[in-house]
Amino acid sequence: MKLLPIILAAGQGSRMNSSLPKVLHQIGGKSMLRHVIDSCRQLDHEKLIIIYGHGGDLVKEQTTDSDIDWVLQAEQKGTGHAVLQAHDSIPDDNIVVIAYGDVPLIKSETLNLLVSKLSDASLSVLTTKLNDPSGYGRIIRDENSKISAIVEEKDANENQKLVNEINTGFIAAKGKDLKRWLNQIKPDNNQAEYYLTDCIALAVAEGGLVEAAVCDDHNEVQGVNNRIQQAQLERAYQGEQAEQLMLKGVTLADPSRIDVRGTVTVGKDVFIDINNVFIGDNQIGDNVTIHPGCVIENAVIGNNSEIHANSVIESAKIGSKCSVGPFARVRPNTVLSDEAKVGNFVEIKKSIIGKGSKISHLSYIGDTVMGDNVNIGAGTITCNYDGVNKFQTTIGDDVFIGSDTQLVAPVTVANRSTIGAGSTITKNTPENELTLSRSKQLTLKGWQRPTKNK
Ligand code: UD1
Ligand code: CA
Repeated sequence: MKLLPIILAAGQGSRMNSSLPKVLHQIGGKSMLRHVIDSCRQLDHEKLIIIYGHGGDLVKEQTTDSDIDWVLQAEQKGTGHAVLQAHDSIPDDNIVVIAYGDVPLIKSETLNLLVSKLSDASLSVLTTKLNDPSGYGRIIRDENSKISAIVEEKDANENQKLVNEINTGFIAAKGKDLKRWLNQIKPDNNQAEYYLTDCIALAVAEGGLVEAAVCDDHNEVQGVNNRIQQAQLERAYQGEQAEQLMLKGVTLADPSRIDVRGTVTVGKDVFIDINNVFIGDNQIGDNVTIHPGCVIENAVIGNNSEIHANSVIESAKIGSKCSVGPFARVRPNTVLSDEAKVGNFVEIKKSIIGKGSKISHLSYIGDTVMGDNVNIGAGTITCNYDGVNKFQTTIGDDVFIGSDTQLVAPVTVANRSTIGAGSTITKNTPENELTLSRSKQLTLKGWQRPTKNK
């Protein structure tokens, strides 16, 4: 039987104090809703249903997946009312799995466990045990410890309030059954809401069995109502990312001081020092060392390369045995070939740097194709922009550029050219020759420094 995940995401999330709908707030660089969709998508499903309401247009704009049925809940009258809005989109023979858009860390394995409980039950509920169950719906069991109902905190008597097994909100049932129960739910309770949880008592009244799947990992079923809970789940999520990296063979100087907002695939014996942030999709080869304080976004870093402290790399490919930083900025569409070196206070943009070429200090290289074994002196700048257009600089193999040179693009520096320090190069240079543009040095004999009048 196909599974049909229904994600409730109509809540306003007023306690976030935000103009952004709650489910679009992020954990690990990904919206909470996206986390839930990703977990649901791993189930054997044909489509997903998302119940939306507050801020729905923005939610839809950011969630363009083709297999999502969007169902509007214009007014929020409770979880049962929310699911009821999807009534006509629920096939009888699907197994519906209810998930919450603001409970982001739920795992597909746990949802599958919940579904597996339906083998001899007509409804299954994901529960957990809490030392402090206040605020949650309590799982009420009869004398044979079979589940008979869920009672909300606001409707619970003193005895029921003592129960520490709570409803996480995730439930599963056959579409046909669920729809029958949804039609019977009435807002006869202290909140005058349509409670989805009333399905439990309705199932039992029909003589059905309600089974619990117990989830021991509280983070998986923790909802986010405010930014404190968001931060707690962010840390939990990052802890898990760090563990995954360590299990794959990465040494982390401190697992609590790395942030992965996306994915990092790694080779063997990678060392990552403290306070590194990885954004988007990153690929790191064998024996790579990343020193403290780097921001690495959508990067590929080849084997045996070293990224020194406080470097920023974005949408770039770093070859093998490269050295970057400290304090380097490698901008999008840059390729460093093997054994290239980009040193401190160097910015590279949209450039190809040849094998073994070195830009060691205080330079800007933009829109450049550079050959192999080039040495760029300190303070060299490519002047690639005239205020309107960008122009290309081409540097051949084995070029030596003296310090403090400006290369005014478009310009080509031919193979084995040498450029004298302090030159402003505006014309193409010939191969093998020394080219320089430099005003003659002169000395004014007998010149006196000005002195202060007393
Ligand atoms: C619900 C459960 C409670 C459980 C708790 C777990 C009911 C009646 N109660 O309580 O047993 O312990 O979750 O966190 O189901 N939503 C809508 N439309 C609505 C109401 C809610 O989409 O009209 C969405 C919210 O955005 C949220 C989720 O449903 O994602 C849960 O709603 P919330 O109000 O937080 O549930 P509780 O009343 O706390
Ligand atoms: Ca509520």
